[in-house]
Formats: sequence, C-alpha cells, structure tokens
Amino acid sequence: MSYAIALRCRKCGREYPLEPRNLCDFCFSPLEVSYDYKSVARVVSREKIAEGPPSMWRYRDLLPVDDDIVDIGTGFTPLVKVDNLGQELGLEKLYIKNDCLNPTYSFKDRVVSVAITKAREFGFDTVACASTGNLAASVAAHAAKANIKSYVFVPSDVEPGKLTGIAIYNPVLVTVKGSYDDVNRLCSQLAQRYNWGFININLRPYYAEGSKTLGYEVAEQLGWRTPDCVVAPAASGLLFTRIWKSLDELAMLGLIEPVNTHMYVTQASGSSPIVNAFEAGVHHVHPVKSETIAKSIAIGNPADGYYALSVARQSGGGACAVTDEEIIDGMKLLAQTEGIFAEAVGGVVVGALRKLTASGAIKRDELTVAVITGAGPRTQDIISDIVRPFAIQPSLESFVEVLGV
Ligand SMILES: Cc1ncc(COP(=O)(O)O)c(C=O)c1O
Ligand SMILES: [Zn+2]
Repeated sequence: MSYAIALRCRKCGREYPLEPRNLCDFCFSPLEVSYDYKSVARVVSREKIAEGPPSMWRYRDLLPVDDDIVDIGTGFTPLVKVDNLGQELGLEKLYIKNDCLNPTYSFKDRVVSVAITKAREFGFDTVACASTGNLAASVAAHAAKANIKSYVFVPSDVEPGKLTGIAIYNPVLVTVKGSYDDVNRLCSQLAQRYNWGFININLRPYYAEGSKTLGYEVAEQLGWRTPDCVVAPAASGLLFTRIWKSLDELAMLGLIEPVNTHMYVTQASGSSPIVNAFEAGVHHVHPVKSETIAKSIAIGNPADGYYALSVARQSGGGACAVTDEEIIDGMKLLAQTEGIFAEAVGGVVVGALRKLTASGAIKRDELTVAVITGAGPRTQDIISDIVRPFAIQPSLESFVEVLGV
C-alpha cells in the first residue's frame, strides 16, 4: 500500500490524481508526488527501516508504489569514508556514496525501479525513454525483468560501451542523429502518439521519487545524521533536487534533526546551464549546446534546472563547473586513491570537490558526501591513453631487461 495521495503542481499547487502525467494543465510546471505524511509518520521509524531489505526498498513507505515491485537489487550502496582522497583534497571527513555498484552500474536503477513498477501498475505493456545512455540500460534491464517491451532512444554519438550495456537486455534500441535535447524533444512527440509509459515523460513524477532513496541512505548510513555538504552532479537536475527533498522529508518525519546541509551542484563546463545561471545570479536557466566528454550529463536544456538552482541557493551551497581535462584528472585521482573506477561524471564530482575545497567554499572539517553516480568500464574510450603496459617475453631475463628492476 502506498501513502502517495496526489500529483501536485510545483508552481500553482493544483492537484491531479495519481495517473501517468507530468505537467500541470494550467501552468505547464512539473508535477510532484505528494504524500499523506501524517500516516507515514505513524508507520516509519529508524527501527522499521533497519529491519527492511538491504536495498532501496527499505524506504518503500516513502515511495509512490503498491506491492508488486520490479526489483533487480538496487540501492543500499556503500557510503565509504575516503581518507586517501580526502588527504589529497584537504578534507578530513570525506565520504563517497558509491552508486556505481547498482545492477546496471548507475544510480538510474533507483528511478527506473519506481517508474517501471508504476508503468506495470498503470497497465502499460510498453515503456520508453530518452537517454544519454545509463537510463536506457536501466530501463531495458527492468523491462526485461518485468516482461514488458521497451523502446530506448539515445543520441547516435553515445559511447560504444554504453550501447553494448543497453543491447544485452534486448530492448528496441534506437539511435537518433542529434543531441540528447533532440532525442528528448522527439520522445515528447512520440508520447503524444503512442500509449506507452515514457519513463522520463509521463511517468516522470514517479521516476523522480526513486532518486530520494540515495539521500535516505546517506542519512541512515551516517547514523541518522545529515552531511554538512553534498556534492552531486546534474543533468536534468532531478537527482540533485531529490537528494534535498529526501533530507527534508526525513527531518519532517522526525527521523533526523533539522537539515543544515549545503548542496553543491556540479556540471561539465561544456554543458553547464545550471552552473552558469548560479554564477550569473539569475533565476532563469538558459539552454546551452552541450559539448563535453561527460556525455551522461550532457543535457543543454535541463527540465529541472530551475529547481536544482533553487536548491543550491536555498541550502547555502553553490555550483561548480569542471573542464574535460579536470574530469579526466578527477577520474584518475578517484581510481588511484580509492580504487573506484567511475565514469566521467565521477570525474566531474571529484574535480568540483577539488575546486570547492581550494576556494574555501567547503571547509577542511566539514562532513562532505560526494555522490558518484555511475561506473567507468562502459566509457573507457576517453581514458584509453592510460594503457601503457610493459610488454615482455615469458622469461626472467626479459622481465629484468624491460622493467629494469
Ligand atoms: C551517471 C549519471 N550521473 C548523473 C546524472 C544526472 O541525473 P539528473 O538528470 O537526475 O540530473 C545522469 C543522468 O543521465 C547520469 O547518467
Ligand atoms: Zn500549475
């Protein structure tokens, strides 16, 4: 049983029934799931959550789904204290939330698990999504598990490793000659024409809720405390806003103290509409043309950009963009200090951490959580120049000669 009661417009507050719909008919603003928090407060407790499964579904009282969940084992990923990286950056209490360790190697499994569960509840026999790659893999995997058909649309320049990671689940995989923003526009047209569950269009309000579980986990894993600072990447901006919402909800339910977390949003310099708006001190997020190696977050016109911007400001946090060179350095630093091979987005987060620490925005003794959202092996091409093995003959002499040790 779910405690969700309605979809509510984020701008004008109008309410709609819980159906496949993402925009308000009156002001075209995004809709958000609202809950009967009084009833939730009566049933949730730290103890009840601790007794739940070691997955995102331990927080199901705070998710908008009924009983028949599509679960491939997502969530409750490690929150690791990373002292080597912390020392390198000058942070004493640095943690990494390692969401590389989800079933399809990114945090997208959190959102998709909820959205596909809803798709099945609504009776859709087909789901679809516009994706920069990770979402498509997750949708295809969950659709396979749920026995429903999936159409996934990605830009044609998506990394080859990502295509394999999608195709293995056998969705209808469509590559579109254009940017992610073109793909998204096309999918909005398709959503008018086909009665499918579009994961990030008509199912978007439910999809969004899945991201909250990352924030719940961080608070629980810190012993029901909130970090002083969170550094998280943004593409559409949804994950960033939902981490904030998750902490807010936990405080509202009395599971943690009032939240005083500074939220720092980070993007690649080649696709940084939210950071640009933050730095310019404006409220409108102007679309940009994306050009970066961090293709997973190359969204020039972020659907939730306005809200991500508000969270960064309202929380007393900030915004930081990172160049492609800094991204590569960040990926290497993370792997070479902590043994975590993240994709380019992880490099964005580590690059931002370095800059935010150097500028004094994040202080040495602040408990900081860096959100690493996706794993590296599918996007290896951007760092292929690191492969420089010593090539030897299978003999002792050859080893000594070539390595000189
Ligand atoms: C690895 C990774 N990190 C972060 C994001 C950003 O997610 P959001 O669109 O919720 O801002 C994405 C989105 O595609 C992603 O693939
Ligand atoms: Zn409205």
